[in-house]
Amino acid sequence: MAKSGRKAAFSALDKHRKRLEDQPMRVQFAIDPNRFKRYSASAGDILLDYSKNRIDEEALAALFDLARSVDVEGRRDAMCEGEHINITEDRAVMHMALRYQGDKPVPVDGQDVMPGIREVLGRMKSFTDDVRNGTIRGNTGEQFTDVVNIGIGGSDLGPAMVTLALEPYTRADLRAHYVSNVDGAHIHDTLKRLDPAKTMFIIASKTFTTDETMTNAATARAWLANALGDQAVNDHFAAVSTNLESTGKFGIRADRTFGFWDWVGGRYSVWSAIGLPIALAVGFENFDRVLKGADAMDRHFLTTPLEDNLPVIMAVLGVWYRNVWGFSTHAVLPYDQRLSRFAAYLQQQDMESNGKSVTLAGKDVAWSTGPIVWGEPGTNGQHAFYQLIHQGTDVIPADFLIAAQPHEALPPHHDKLVANVLAQSEALMLGKTEDEVVTELKVAGMDKAKIKELTPHKVFPGNRPSNTLFYQKLTPETLGSLIALYEHKVFVQGVIWNVNSFDQWGVELGKQLAKALLPKVEGKATGEGHDSSTQGLLAYYQANKTKD
Ligand code: F6P
Repeated sequence: MAKSGRKAAFSALDKHRKRLEDQPMRVQFAIDPNRFKRYSASAGDILLDYSKNRIDEEALAALFDLARSVDVEGRRDAMCEGEHINITEDRAVMHMALRYQGDKPVPVDGQDVMPGIREVLGRMKSFTDDVRNGTIRGNTGEQFTDVVNIGIGGSDLGPAMVTLALEPYTRADLRAHYVSNVDGAHIHDTLKRLDPAKTMFIIASKTFTTDETMTNAATARAWLANALGDQAVNDHFAAVSTNLESTGKFGIRADRTFGFWDWVGGRYSVWSAIGLPIALAVGFENFDRVLKGADAMDRHFLTTPLEDNLPVIMAVLGVWYRNVWGFSTHAVLPYDQRLSRFAAYLQQQDMESNGKSVTLAGKDVAWSTGPIVWGEPGTNGQHAFYQLIHQGTDVIPADFLIAAQPHEALPPHHDKLVANVLAQSEALMLGKTEDEVVTELKVAGMDKAKIKELTPHKVFPGNRPSNTLFYQKLTPETLGSLIALYEHKVFVQGVIWNVNSFDQWGVELGKQLAKALLPKVEGKATGEGHDSSTQGLLAYYQANKTKD
């Protein structure tokens, strides 16, 4: 579809918005007892209830028409077939191959990538099995008790999020730590509790050039060598990268180096050897279950009609709010403490993918693209930022996530958690009218004047949209499916917005400037040539960096 075509398509949806403005969800629920049935769908054990959205049949049909008109299905097939859909880097986008469970060849640039994937998975299995059972030990013969993954962005967020989510599958005697920030506090505070003789490091970097990771890796290496001698590095370091030349130069032996490929984007790499710390923490079998869950979601995405396709439904709803209603943020609110890094993970997934303002053809987009994604687990968020979600001036579409079964037998915790998540989506949808507030205050025995004064503060506008994702239990399979669900949602939105969801040039400028500024920060050069703000800040730093 041409640029004007998309713009026109978004404008054409406006008539549906206008109609629905006069039909708040609470009215629609009252009229239609089948609304939940009509607007819910499932994939495996994941139920998506999207009935609490500002939609009706007509609006939804128009949204699916939009998805078809921009050829979501064709673009999806192009991705699967290894077309170089990442046009600015001239690369295929094949993260689905990393979790593919079938036996067909998966060609990329004329070569089946499955044997290579299986070879690395096999090596990951034997390595992680051997570390976990004590066959592979540290330089002094001690069994490893701590694994420190050093990486950032996609080489950190995915494994860190998954390890936390799968805590019930971890062992108390083998802990995973994640160091990402170049702020020395991060590695310092991590290492201070660790015993070098029992600590293994994984240097995870697709490029093996990322400054934060290389700086942390050098510090880790010095810490280890200082305690155990240089020769110990061999036994205590592993690497995950596409740049096998640089891993070798760093001194990491080949049998402890796990490769992946340039057709795996950093934010899509948790399924590759980047998952090594996950496999160490929860065992390779459980890591493999994560892959299987993701593959199940892939099958759903690839074969289910758009109208019943969870990622597509979530994607078009997101576009509806972003481009037709003008809502600029999207909240991810897991009622699952172990998903406390899920929103942070999705921030990279979504914002690095669709935070773009030119089309595939390099022209300015004439519509809004990726929203700001944010969130924290419930119920904690309820006591922090939900006030704004309920009564603020911005409407924030939200995804609630909740398991039907907890991992721990601690009644009444889980029933209370479920009651809270259901209450929040209900409250957001229903709101509370002026009449309801007045009646409530009268019943409470309040006098007329006080009721008049208080009522406006106690009214909730309602009609605030949310999805609820209900799943049986946060198992490795379910987690894999949930991550893949969001990946595909972001993909579909990228197609609708006509952007390249697979590059990230927007992070480069800051990196370049930081490199140029370093000698000036170190005091080896003056700040001349920079703007007055940067010069002023440099001067403040020089004046204060060694002051008592
Ligand atoms: O700075 C952005 C980014 O390129 C991400 O896309 C990537 O996940 C991260 O940096 C880390 O890159 P690498 O794995 O090459 O160290």
